[in-house]
Amino acid sequence: MQKIEHIGIAVSDIDTSNKVFEKIFGKENYKSEKIELEGVITSFFQIGENKIELVAATNSDSPISKFLSKNREGMHHIAFAVDNIQAEMERLKNEGITLLNDFPKKGADNKLICFLHPKDTNGVLIELCQEIM
Ligand code: CO
Repeated sequence: MQKIEHIGIAVSDIDTSNKVFEKIFGKENYKSEKIELEGVITSFFQIGENKIELVAATNSDSPISKFLSKNREGMHHIAFAVDNIQAEMERLKNEGITLLNDFPKKGADNKLICFLHPKDTNGVLIELCQEIM
């Protein structure tokens, strides 16, 4: 893994939270993107070298709806940039880590992504992401 690519924050309402984080960061998001397949809408802020992703549900089947039915809004996942997501998924599988998807899927912000099951990661939801060239 190369570095933390972004930190994901689960929110109930993307517009409300965009305003909250615009105030906190003193700047606007650089991108907002709906991922229909995942049932989420995302909003990205660039803070120096780091990125923060706000993520809200767009329907009740969304993983974010499920998360927010059990938890408050807040820290949701940490994403790590990888060079070769296939190789990294294979390596982690061999280490006994459960992957939430068998194949990399298209995520927000031009990335191939895969989540690791929190039961194998001390409760931290980890996302792998590889830039799509
Ligand atoms: Co993410």
